[in-house]
Amino acid sequence: MGFFWEGLPPFLLSWSATQLAAPVIAVETGTFSGDTAQLLAESFGKCITIERSAQFAQAARLRFINESRVTVLEGSSRDQLPMAIPPRDVSSFFG
Ligand SMILES: C[S@@+](CC[C@H](N)C(=O)[O-])C[C@H]1O[C@@H](n2cnc3c(N)ncnc32)[C@H](O)[C@@H]1O
Repeated sequence: MGFFWEGLPPFLLSWSATQLAAPVIAVETGTFSGDTAQLLAESFGKCITIERSAQFAQAARLRFINESRVTVLEGSSRDQLPMAIPPRDVSSFFG
């Protein structure tokens, strides 16, 4: 039994937003097209997204060129995650 949800379930985002004290930074590993990064930025106010593929990372940089709430880091999460860890006084959501 159970269910499968493609992407982040909206109820998880809305519940998390009620639990985390502002400011919040969402960190995403695997940007792909950037849809979830956009959703995370809208839900939490700021998203740092990490993409290993140079092609997807470049497309995301272009997509978010005028979206200051999204920061795209290019490289493997294994290497880039330390750069994306929010400061201790900032709430964080990892997706
Ligand atoms: C399943 S998609 C991610 C989907 C996205 N998070 C979403 O919710 O729409 C997988 C993405 O992760 C990227 N990826 C795979 N391994 C990675 C890694 N080690 N570090 C960063 N990105 C990675 C792939 O290039 C691909 O764009």
